[in-house]
Amino acid sequence: MIESVNSTSVLNRDRPVKLLVLGGGYSGRRLAALAARAGIAGVISHRDPSAAAAPPPGWHKVGFDSGSGLRPDPTALTDITHVVSTIAPDREGHDPVLSQMGDLLQTLRPQWLGYLSTTGVYGDSGGAWVDEHSPCQPRAGRSANRLTCEQAWLATDLPVQIFRLPGIYGPGRSPFATLRSGSSRLLHRPGHVFCRIHVDDIGGALLHCLALPDQRRQPLVNISDDVPCPASEVLGYAAHLLNCKLPPLQRYEAAAAELSPMARSFWSESRRVRNDLLTRQLGYRLRYPTYREGLRAALAEEDGTAVLPETHRGAEGSGSVT
Ligand SMILES: NC(=O)c1ccc[n+]([C@@H]2O[C@H](COP(=O)([O-])OP(=O)(O)OC[C@H]3O[C@@H](n4cnc5c(N)ncnc54)[C@H](OP(=O)(O)O)[C@@H]3O)[C@@H](O)[C@H]2O)c1
Repeated sequence: MIESVNSTSVLNRDRPVKLLVLGGGYSGRRLAALAARAGIAGVISHRDPSAAAAPPPGWHKVGFDSGSGLRPDPTALTDITHVVSTIAPDREGHDPVLSQMGDLLQTLRPQWLGYLSTTGVYGDSGGAWVDEHSPCQPRAGRSANRLTCEQAWLATDLPVQIFRLPGIYGPGRSPFATLRSGSSRLLHRPGHVFCRIHVDDIGGALLHCLALPDQRRQPLVNISDDVPCPASEVLGYAAHLLNCKLPPLQRYEAAAAELSPMARSFWSESRRVRNDLLTRQLGYRLRYPTYREGLRAALAEEDGTAVLPETHRGAEGSGSVT
């Protein structure tokens, strides 16, 4: 049974959980909000904390910017027990946290450290399924850098767990705005699928894994939903929810030259990412197993009609935070 994660229960240890989220961007902020609703206090970093939105209740902002050398004041981090880094490799391919805060993390001696990576490290599988044991064959430079950063994290003596993510979506990162403005593109490439994950399943899975006993922690975990599928299918469902017309269908090959290099690099790889380790072995129950529930919830939140997601019980028993 998984121990509960809250401000008074301490995972069989003698300190309440206090989370440090490095990188208060999209996933970092949603994770902090989810943790706050579960009663977990924490600290969240921004490159410019004075410009960042207010943190959730029980949370504080600190400054961290590897570019300018801004580091958090260590006194703000003294009681940190768990850490999540959401920060991508820098332009040179180095991990900003390891290069600028590695010594500070060693001093903190966290009980667990989650690192957000990407399923891009698997490379192109031609649409075949990949899991955590699949070979990594990153194609693009940034995925190769990511794999190097994963390895650098795993080479530390910190209790690191790597989480590999596909495309992240959720409120504010959904197809609805471009559909409404008429600027979305309906692209199709036969046989090509993408994987995705709702941002609150990243937070939910992290809080779930954070609460697992040490012996159940796996070094690599995919966080992906149950349904890899073509981008056109997702856009079609989003248009259905909005009751609006889809743009004309274009074959990917015909449109590729007009896409950004980043978009073309996404379309150059296709894989189906297995989540069995997370959902079956580790017992995390996805809030949004497919894009359908995820898009409905995102639209409700964007339109201000959503009920905030509550912490719910995991598949393994009472009291877990998922
Ligand atoms: N977006 C996707 O679909 C996707 C897919 C797979 C994996 N990932 C990876 O998953 C992680 C989380 O993604 P996300 O979309 O939530 O990221 P995001 O919104 O871009 O947030 C990244 C955070 O990192 C901070 N940051 C960036 N460079 C920094 C530096 N040099 N020093 C200090 N802080 C720095 C940013 O600071 P500021 O708040 O000051 O901007 C921001 O808070 C990232 O590593 C991303 O590459 C993303």
